[in-house]
Amino acid sequence: MSENTVTASHRRLTIRVLRYNPREPGSEPRIQEYPLEEGDGMTLFIALNEIREKQDPSLVFDFVCRAGICGSCAMLINGRPGLACRTQTKNLGPEIMLAPLPGFELIADLAVNTGKWMRGMSERLETWVHTREQEVDLTRLEERMDPELAEQIYELDRCIECGCCIAGCATAQMRPGFVGAVGLSKIARFRLDPRDARTDAEYYELVGDDNGVFGCMSLLGCQDVCPKDLPLQARIAYVRRQMAKQGFTRG
Ligand code: SF4
Ligand code: F3S
Ligand code: FES
Repeated sequence: MSENTVTASHRRLTIRVLRYNPREPGSEPRIQEYPLEEGDGMTLFIALNEIREKQDPSLVFDFVCRAGICGSCAMLINGRPGLACRTQTKNLGPEIMLAPLPGFELIADLAVNTGKWMRGMSERLETWVHTREQEVDLTRLEERMDPELAEQIYELDRCIECGCCIAGCATAQMRPGFVGAVGLSKIARFRLDPRDARTDAEYYELVGDDNGVFGCMSLLGCQDVCPKDLPLQARIAYVRRQMAKQGFTRG
């Protein structure tokens, strides 16, 4: 070996995956272990792909963008919700436990149907701009907005609907109808948006119960695990304050 040869010693990782496919007859929940040599800059996305290519083509997990944008790779990483494509193995110990996000319909192994949950929540909270006019006035929709307000709305629009805040919230795990931090922050977002013609009473009717703002026990797990670092706690407190100010009580 020449003097200039660089030898990199990589860790041996053990990746354990909670596996179960409810659609496969005879499938039982089990933990499967995969040994793997850690590569430079390896993310869990790379690790799982390597496992699927070289060891086990039957392993099911979701990825689309690989860049923390689509939200589809969220899973429990050593018990904590996070994005697999943004998690580097070097920041974890050599033994890594992966499981599907709780609180969502399981598709198989690490893949869950967050889309179905998010659609249900969006339909229930009507997360779109409501106008009073029969015909939408596009010029009004394009009216100039105060930059500070636009920034606050933009901040909440950064949500990628990954579901981590639901998986990290004890209330959401106990109460299937709870709209969670993602839902409450969407209500805050539309309440801030001057283009949305809904009245306060209309907003708060949507979240003025235990499945909405009164179900939140300020446990803060949502904010701790949000991969986009959204100010979820502040937005939930904002909705609560606005409701109290205007005399709305538990529905
Ligand atoms: Fe994910 Fe954060 Fe949006 Fe929750 S609020 S769905 S954790 S991006
Ligand atoms: Fe849950 Fe977050 Fe409230 S963790 S209880 S939604 S502060
Ligand atoms: Fe899109 Fe991870 S693959 S966020």
